[in-house]
Amino acid sequence: MQAHLVTLPGDGIGPEVTAAAVDVLKHVAAHHGHDFRFSEHAIGGAAIDATGEPLPDATREACLAADAVLLGAVGGPKWSDPNAKVRPEQGLLALRAALGVFANLRPLKVHPRLAERSPLKTERLKDVDFVVVRELTGGAYFGAKTRDKERATDECAYTVAEIERVLRRGFELASQRGRHLTSVDKANVLETSRLWRHTAEQVARDYPEVHLEHQLVDSMAMLMLTQPSRYDVIVTENLFGDILTDEAAALAGSLGLLPSASLGDHHGGLYEPIHGSAPDIAGQDAANPLGAIASAALLLRHALGLEAEAAVVEAAVEHVVEHGPWTRDLGGTATTSQVRDAVIAALD
Ligand code: NAI
Ligand code: MG
Repeated sequence: MQAHLVTLPGDGIGPEVTAAAVDVLKHVAAHHGHDFRFSEHAIGGAAIDATGEPLPDATREACLAADAVLLGAVGGPKWSDPNAKVRPEQGLLALRAALGVFANLRPLKVHPRLAERSPLKTERLKDVDFVVVRELTGGAYFGAKTRDKERATDECAYTVAEIERVLRRGFELASQRGRHLTSVDKANVLETSRLWRHTAEQVARDYPEVHLEHQLVDSMAMLMLTQPSRYDVIVTENLFGDILTDEAAALAGSLGLLPSASLGDHHGGLYEPIHGSAPDIAGQDAANPLGAIASAALLLRHALGLEAEAAVVEAAVEHVVEHGPWTRDLGGTATTSQVRDAVIAALD
């Protein structure tokens, strides 16, 4: 298969972990007879320094034309003045909007070897394997905002079409996984949530093989900690998803392990580890590249339909999580390059 992949290394450890993920993809391509073409572009702080803009036109156009985009991370103290006109995160938000990626998938598995690093009891983390699907382009983050001295508002609005398309992603995923979908809302209080719940019931008719369950977001926040192994696919709106995905990340033991995929209807998607630019360890060859490499596996699966190759990369990542070498965040002493090399060795 031929594919054109754009890489956006970004800031801090972004370039280090992205380079490791690209090395893994190149190895997969060589091994499985694929022709992946890579081109690198600027985003975030690096792009502000080079062009004055967090998402230069050349980057946006290259991403739109690509089969998929692999991103490192953006941001850092150098660009963090809250009064600055341009900020690195604007580049990421603008890119998500340009690509029309409305569903953010965050798979979470807790490896038994790492369960002891989690704040939860080890036995509670047994068999945890779920995906949170967060709506990414609607709700309170994108609604009308007002502010005067005494009062501020953030409008939370959703259309049926916006709710339906993200739920369909969730149902499709659930029908390929454990056939269980938990739709999270606050339907006892919010009108948008009542529309969400009604829409979930409608969409569920097209997926009779999937069991639909509704959960209120406050009880979901608790259940994710008390019974995390009960869940398969969890679908929710933007604000609830932002909070629940950070809570889920805390279960895994390290931010450095977790991948994400942002998917739309008209583009192969945006793939990135969930961690930030980690300025405290940038430039030291100390970053854990496994989240970026696992994001590359999601790219193989969701953008290119290469399920077997995706599974091979995920198995190699699991092998390294189990047997090491580990970077400092997992209690080891290995470098980014050593972990990358171990993943590549485990591929064969
Ligand atoms: P962070 O995720 O960059 O770092 C939090 C802690 O986790 C740090 O101690 C860091 O060293 C560690 N860590 C993160 N990723 C790691 C990895 N792969 N290997 C080993 N250790 C790792 O979050 P923080 O410190 O809140 O933010 C730093 C900068 O990153 C900020 O400018 C923030 O805005 C930006 N950020 C960007 C994101 C993105 O590009 N999607 C997401 C989150 C934050
Ligand atoms: Mg967040």
